Amino acid sequence: TVKNPVTEKDCSSITPPYAKLTKNLSIVQRILNNRPLTLAEKIVYSHLTNPEETIPVRGETYLKLSPDRVAMQDASAQMAILQFMLSGMKTTAVPSSIHCDHLIVAHEGADKDVVSSIANNKEIFDFLQSSAQKYGVAFWKPGSGIIHQIVLENYAAPGGLMLGTDSHTPNAGGLGMIAIGVGGADAVDAMADIPWELKAPKVIGVKLTGQLHPWTSPKDVILQLAGQLTVRGGTGHIIEYFGEGVDALSCTGMATMCNMGAEVGATTSLFPYTHRMRSYLGATGRTEVAKAADANANFLRADEHCEYDKVIEIDLSKVEPHINGPFTPDLSTPLSKFKSFIEENGWKDDLSAGLIGSCTNSSYQDMSRAASIAQQASDAGVSVKSNFLVTPGSEQIRATIERDGQQAVFEKAGAQVLANACGPCIGQWKRTDLEKGAPENAILTSFNRNFRSRNDGNPNTMNFLAAPEIVTAMAFAGKLSFNPMTDALLDKDGKPFHFTPPQGDDLPRLGFEAGRATYEPPSPTPTPDPSVDIAVSPESSRLQVLDAFEPWNGEEFKNVRVLVKVQGKCTTDHISAAGPWLKYKGHLENIAENTLIGALNADNQKINMVRDVTTNQEEPLPEVAKSYKRQNMPWMVVADHNYGEGSAREHAALQVRYLGCPLIVSRSFARIHETNLKKQGVLPLTFANEADWEKVSGGDVIETVGVAGIAPEKPVQLIVTKEDGTKFSIDAKHTMSHDQIQWFKKGSALNLIKENISS
Ligand code: F3S
Repeated sequence: TVKNPVTEKDCSSITPPYAKLTKNLSIVQRILNNRPLTLAEKIVYSHLTNPEETIPVRGETYLKLSPDRVAMQDASAQMAILQFMLSGMKTTAVPSSIHCDHLIVAHEGADKDVVSSIANNKEIFDFLQSSAQKYGVAFWKPGSGIIHQIVLENYAAPGGLMLGTDSHTPNAGGLGMIAIGVGGADAVDAMADIPWELKAPKVIGVKLTGQLHPWTSPKDVILQLAGQLTVRGGTGHIIEYFGEGVDALSCTGMATMCNMGAEVGATTSLFPYTHRMRSYLGATGRTEVAKAADANANFLRADEHCEYDKVIEIDLSKVEPHINGPFTPDLSTPLSKFKSFIEENGWKDDLSAGLIGSCTNSSYQDMSRAASIAQQASDAGVSVKSNFLVTPGSEQIRATIERDGQQAVFEKAGAQVLANACGPCIGQWKRTDLEKGAPENAILTSFNRNFRSRNDGNPNTMNFLAAPEIVTAMAFAGKLSFNPMTDALLDKDGKPFHFTPPQGDDLPRLGFEAGRATYEPPSPTPTPDPSVDIAVSPESSRLQVLDAFEPWNGEEFKNVRVLVKVQGKCTTDHISAAGPWLKYKGHLENIAENTLIGALNADNQKINMVRDVTTNQEEPLPEVAKSYKRQNMPWMVVADHNYGEGSAREHAALQVRYLGCPLIVSRSFARIHETNLKKQGVLPLTFANEADWEKVSGGDVIETVGVAGIAPEKPVQLIVTKEDGTKFSIDAKHTMSHDQIQWFKKGSALNLIKENISS
């Protein structure tokens, strides 16, 4: 039994600077004639670097912000640190943390998997740890937990502003923080004390009334909302929850809802400060933060009569459990209709695996409710029919559920408890129950994202999302058609057995256990040690020191070849795949070998196959891109809607830039990816008339008119020459602000930072 109770933490670097924030806010309020503000506006505007000089207009003004904190996960931290090294800074300007969670492969269970992952990734972990020591960054070792859970337990604070190099950073909105997923280059801005730019988001207000039914959980609210808003519905918006229903939600439940706001493309999601947040802060050793938040309670709620850009009302008592998927998180089906949904589509009824946990749903409450279901089944002598895997979100959760018995319940039911890490959620799953590429099989997870092939690399795995208690119940049934609210299983005597609604405390009655302290950093903000050497071997296949990109030559682009016209969904997983490629996150040249391998070519309807115009042969996309690069032929991508949706993965921008792509034109971009492209000096354009996408094909040659005099809001023309010599022009737009245009001109945002630091 673990005995290491969580004690009060040093909160000095965790508590937001409320005095400064409220002073900034009062300046902005005066400028805005004391118009009532949403909570999102209050927190964002209070972090303005230059409050006196800004008149924020939602959806229009570019804001310069000063974040309070940065968090990075091990896969994206590599590139963030490699870029930070180029900046010439001696220490990070704001408290920052690195979390080793993505590189741990789920295979044989927690302890063995952590040991083998450390051995397999030693070079990377050593690089991250020594960088952390050198620059004064908190380093959370492999096994400590998943970035967002660790942040919620340790760093999130009401009214703060955090950037995280992971798209589910908004998880911290469950503690009233504006937490935004960004690429490493944005993190470098914050760490280098450069104002971080964001277009003032619009705000969707989600009014919650009523109370959840015992079978439903906050996950079901966001699963339902994802269906309503779709994967693009939140783009350019912060989702702000309000209404009396908020008080009925646990802090970690709110975090789940904020976490999955990423699935509708929202900039972030946010809850007002509640007594449930206060209790959570107290239980996780941050009473001082709670006291400071109490003293600033007015700041931490929306002003009365504030106006949202859109309001959605949800009566929590009418929400039913939902199951979303397969392959997209917005395909939302109420549990009561899921059986017919499966039948109508002719899908197999068998459930091959149920997976619970991850950063989205591994709170004490989630684990307790899932364990209460597993306990009921065990008591009735019902055994689990599918593979059942449990991923605790942190060492604190693992140690606490070990002490309180939930882990034993899972293990007794036959569950495999995995490491406190991302594992199957990010494709780090050495699945042994099925052959590689096995035919159609279904898995149900309590994760947040379900793009095709994401979990086990098998495009035939139908991946559905649900709350952990629903996943658990269905793992005991082994059937997708089973409705745990109404259907019966057979108990050990062959009699019908019905589940009763799950139960679970949101906070452990005996307090949290911290678990193994060896995983944790020695201090929330360690002192930087400039003498530490960060070794990157030139022979390494996993780490490569970056070279700065060339600045733009000030001229129009000419003879840019369309490498591929992408059709349909093209997420950052399609542009820069994860799974086995995660090991090359710190080596741009090697990871570029996966560029666009998931993209569907509109011209030949093939994935990762494109005609090389110089040879007329069809080849994989990265091969053709590399060949064009070798021949000094600039190339571009023509993309469909919401190009780059999904994660904050900046490799999706870095790789195309590295391989010689100066511009991309799409029907629309996902926000984070569009910014990442800008940061790396790639010009992201959108069709002024979306139908023009039809007119362009792979192999066409593009020339620009208007890039030479590029200015905010100024359109750009593309002169398209088809391979048969036909020529026509189409109109395009860009969203670059004055500052972003400087990034483009210098070749990348980092080039600009470097210039500023050295001048
Ligand atoms: Fe990790 Fe999956 Fe969350 S990859 S950070 S557990 S979304």
